[in-house]
Amino acid sequence: MVDWEARWHDALYAPGGFFARGEKPARHFRTSPLVGPELAEALLVLLAGVDAALGRPERLDFVDMGAGGGELAADVRASATGDLARRLRVTAVDVGPARTLPGVAWVREPPAVVTGLLVGHEWLDAVPCPVVVGPSDDPWLRTWWPLGDGDRAEVGAPRDAAWADAVGRVRGAALAVDYGHLLADRAAGRYRAGTLAGYRDGRRVEPVFDGSCDITAHVALDACAAAAGGDWVLVSQRDALGALGITPTGPEVPGGDPMAWLEATARDGRVAELRATGGLGDFGWLLHATAGVRTADLLPPLPGWRP
Ligand SMILES: C[S@@+](CC[C@H](N)C(=O)[O-])C[C@H]1O[C@@H](n2cnc3c(N)ncnc32)[C@H](O)[C@@H]1O
Repeated sequence: MVDWEARWHDALYAPGGFFARGEKPARHFRTSPLVGPELAEALLVLLAGVDAALGRPERLDFVDMGAGGGELAADVRASATGDLARRLRVTAVDVGPARTLPGVAWVREPPAVVTGLLVGHEWLDAVPCPVVVGPSDDPWLRTWWPLGDGDRAEVGAPRDAAWADAVGRVRGAALAVDYGHLLADRAAGRYRAGTLAGYRDGRRVEPVFDGSCDITAHVALDACAAAAGGDWVLVSQRDALGALGITPTGPEVPGGDPMAWLEATARDGRVAELRATGGLGDFGWLLHATAGVRTADLLPPLPGWRP
């Protein structure tokens, strides 16, 4: 029998594997941190809420889990201001080769204790899983992805465990941002062929387990939420960014500074991309609050995520 999880793991993370050899996600696919600094700006608003709820600790962490090229960590470091910036410690965590970024520590394992905000941005979709053709008596599938004859599915248990471990390290808040699916849609047969996919050089390709491409699958974010437990919310990136103040500014009054108009227009374009229906705006934001912080301290009530 093929051990899909082991083959997937080796293709990405064994010596010479796709991420292990240091392939930069930016070369192969577009993620929200690559669009511009606006995601980091939103996360700094979230971090400020965590900071206030924790009583402004002397050292405040921002941890970028599965940092890839480190763009998000670098933007958070560069965009932070004032007293928060003085107390801020930014850490990028990745199993790939270390990158040198000003003001960012680069490590292979997340810190044992994170006081502040941990973000796994498109991290969980790169955590390898077993791939199964159903029906199956796997307990995770029985609970989270009932299969019919010939249906294919990725068993999300390794993602659940990875996320529960990450959240368990955090005093403050932990946020997973990813594409994914929900039980109701899985059970209704919307993903009968599974979601395994490959990406190389900006294109979707056949997922081949030879290290030549990224291999990814949608994340069962509802299962991750249940595994980590506690106080959590699952909302869309579109709604979360709006709630954190990342909204279009609209055209400037005629007669204003043309360079300011140009910059505002470019920013509006980036915000539209981050919030697009059928695109990045449909990503799920799974936010857990811990150690006395409440999700209600960090985000207003928003509609539940519908991928
Ligand atoms: C899809 S890329 C996302 C990169 C970046 N966060 C972004 O959104 O542009 C996933 C990254 O997670 C890293 N990764 C996967 N499992 C990891 C683990 N257990 N610990 C640290 N990094 C991990 C991979 O090496 C890869 O760089």
